[in-house]
Amino acid sequence: MIAIIVAVAENGVIGGDNRLLWHISEDLKHFKAVTTGHPVVMGRKTYESLGRPLPNRRNVVVTRQPLALDGCEVAHSLGEALALFAPEERVFVIGGAQIYGQALPLCDEFYLTRVFRAYEGDTRFPAWDESEWRLVESESFASGKDFPHPFAFERYVRR
Ligand SMILES: NC(=O)c1ccc[n+]([C@@H]2O[C@H](COP(=O)([O-])OP(=O)(O)OC[C@H]3O[C@@H](n4cnc5c(N)ncnc54)[C@H](OP(=O)(O)O)[C@@H]3O)[C@@H](O)[C@H]2O)c1
Repeated sequence: MIAIIVAVAENGVIGGDNRLLWHISEDLKHFKAVTTGHPVVMGRKTYESLGRPLPNRRNVVVTRQPLALDGCEVAHSLGEALALFAPEERVFVIGGAQIYGQALPLCDEFYLTRVFRAYEGDTRFPAWDESEWRLVESESFASGKDFPHPFAFERYVRR
């Protein structure tokens, strides 16, 4: 079972200068609650942006380079990364844009945090067809503890 988890600004931006552009502590908690205990697969740039493997999860980094990264497994394609896991295992693809683009056609479930504000950034979530997905959960917030704009946690499954 392959799931994507991502936070997207209302103009499609997900990052800039290889970092996140907002700090929403509720979203970090949500990400942790959803993914802990499950493997996470990410692109090499997202790994560099995190700077360390995420604890209590198998971390797989996708790169074309011959890298060895402490605490991570390295795969040389998304297919190679996903083949490390049995089909019944819940695997989370956690970005970034290049890896999301390759994973979208393969995934069954989609955790989307919508950030209702536009950001200037250099990285966007790829276009996705909402008609292929069914919204099964949604929780909206007018603002966060330290974030003054609305956001929502949504979960979609493929129709
Ligand atoms: N808002 C969110 O939820 C969220 C989540 C994650 C990331 N982000 C943001 O997204 C940005 C990073 O995204 P990105 O698209 O620039 O990079 P990325 O997808 O994280 O990583 C790209 C790298 O992955 C490797 N790669 C990609 N496709 C491959 C393939 N088919 N086979 C082998 N290796 C492959 C390459 O590594 P090599 O160059 O080493 O070969 C490539 O340079 C950052 O700003 C980050 O903060 C946002």
